[in-house]
Amino acid sequence: QKISVIGLPMDLGQARRGVDMGPSAIRCAEIVERLEKLNIEVEDLGDIIVGRPENADEPGTNLKNLQLVAKGNTQLATRVDEIIEEGSFPLILGGDHSIAIGTLAGVAKHYENLGVIWYDAHGDLNTEDTSPSGNIHGMPLAVSIGIGHPDLINIHGFAPKVKPENIVIIGARSLDEGEKELIREKGIKVFTMHEIDRLGMTRVMEECIDYLRERTDGVHLSLDLDGVDPADAPGVGTPVIGGISYRESHLAMEMLAESNLITSAEFVEVNPILDERNKTAIVAVALMGSLFGEKLV
Ligand code: ARG
Ligand code: MN
Ligand code: MN
Ligand code: MN
Repeated sequence: QKISVIGLPMDLGQARRGVDMGPSAIRCAEIVERLEKLNIEVEDLGDIIVGRPENADEPGTNLKNLQLVAKGNTQLATRVDEIIEEGSFPLILGGDHSIAIGTLAGVAKHYENLGVIWYDAHGDLNTEDTSPSGNIHGMPLAVSIGIGHPDLINIHGFAPKVKPENIVIIGARSLDEGEKELIREKGIKVFTMHEIDRLGMTRVMEECIDYLRERTDGVHLSLDLDGVDPADAPGVGTPVIGGISYRESHLAMEMLAESNLITSAEFVEVNPILDERNKTAIVAVALMGSLFGEKLV
């Protein structure tokens, strides 16, 4: 199968500039060459152009850069939809995590029961009311289940995109109070760092894969590099110590490759300005290699 790479150089869903260079950093770390070595056909569709804000604050909302975030995501949704329509696998490069709004909008059109693996230190389940920051990158998962600003939840013309019970969060260790309530209320499955410590990554991924296999007809992987421990992935805007190690992440990707479950993927929050010699992009590319079936022998 062909993989279509597309970047959304969006940094307006959060406050630290530089994450708009994520797609470029990931290309510099040779994502296309890496996947081609696996004898996969890869096309790089380049980046969607994101507007620049005059003022982050818009009247009538505390969501920062709402209109430009909505616009970039609307374009992404259309492109992702087209990629799947053509029978190709969409691989989306961020950009901050607000871009999952557009990805999921484009992907969800093609599945009755889309599953989502949210690999992240955070839940990204905030709303206008519960957000401590007004940053839209803390909201995309809530938006995808239909909770949030109408200009976000209705992108690509339908809502919700995903059923809460089809979501699995992996690596959570920084959840806001409102997010914890939503998780309980909606029955979202979460493997926090506690479960990863206690059960080990092998069992966590086995449970995750079994859970999604029996209830979904496609699974999107949304991997926020801050899910990985900041020692291994320092180039992120909202690092949280005590994260998933590089080895555990590598194993998780290999198990997903073996499962044959993943039908679309995105890698977000790589910020080369905060990074050490592009380490985080290099980690992202290594994880993509594993996800698409790379093995040493
Ligand atoms: N929970 C915090 C917020 O809502 C942090 C979110 C971080 N999200 C991310 N995609 N890095 O602002
Ligand atoms: Mn995060
Ligand atoms: Mn995130
Ligand atoms: Mn390996």
